[in-house]
Amino acid sequence: MRIPMIAGNWKMNTTVSEAVELVNEMRPGLDEIANVDKVICPPFISLITVRELIKGSSIKLGAQNLYFEAKGAYTGEISPLMLADLCEFVIIGHSERRQYFNETGEIVNKKVKAALRAKLKPILCIGESPEENEAGRTEAVIAGQLRSSLAGIDFAADLIIAYEPIWAIGTGKAATGRQANKTTGFIRQNIAQLYNEDLAQKMRILYGGSVTADNAAEFINQPEIDGALVGGASLKAPQFLSIVKQTSEIKGRL
Ligand code: PGA
Repeated sequence: MRIPMIAGNWKMNTTVSEAVELVNEMRPGLDEIANVDKVICPPFISLITVRELIKGSSIKLGAQNLYFEAKGAYTGEISPLMLADLCEFVIIGHSERRQYFNETGEIVNKKVKAALRAKLKPILCIGESPEENEAGRTEAVIAGQLRSSLAGIDFAADLIIAYEPIWAIGTGKAATGRQANKTTGFIRQNIAQLYNEDLAQKMRILYGGSVTADNAAEFINQPEIDGALVGGASLKAPQFLSIVKQTSEIKGRL
């Protein structure tokens, strides 16, 4: 049985005091919900404060990015070792990083390796562009991204994958549950080929892209989808709580 996961990607939102407010608003409700891994990923500068706030809580912490070197003259970057001290998860290869910060498959691969070396659990994001989707290239793109992101990684037990079609991120245009389930199943098959069936069955694969409290159930009800990576809706405590609650109820029934 895979433990479902809902991860909130706050992106470049919230000052430290806003982060404090948001966590305080979410914490009591989230702590009442069992059987779901609840992860929040605030901006780097709020990690220490949020970590203190969630001490003794069931909420887990993640970062949104890292640099692949352990330390050195890399002005402005944050290393896996710095994060491993503070949090359990790290989002890697988000499409916004690929698009705006020129992260290539090779860089993503180095970051996944660096995260695993530091005992961080990567949430690896993959997904096709609108053009690739329209050209019917979704599976070819996904297979290529998996191969390049995971090249040379022979132990991927701690990895989580988030399938985020780029055309669905922040657009309000979510995929349908069936579409997302099909691609998620395809990702699982690829993991079985790259590693083995046992790992593929254990690996959590999330859907991401315009998930809200209103459409979350459609995704969570799908057998291949183990949860969601939530952007916009994770900044609103009632929405995020509702998504986590629905996940606990639906996956508890399946
Ligand atoms: P969104 O973002 O939920 O705002 O579409 C999801 C993501 O980018 O992880």
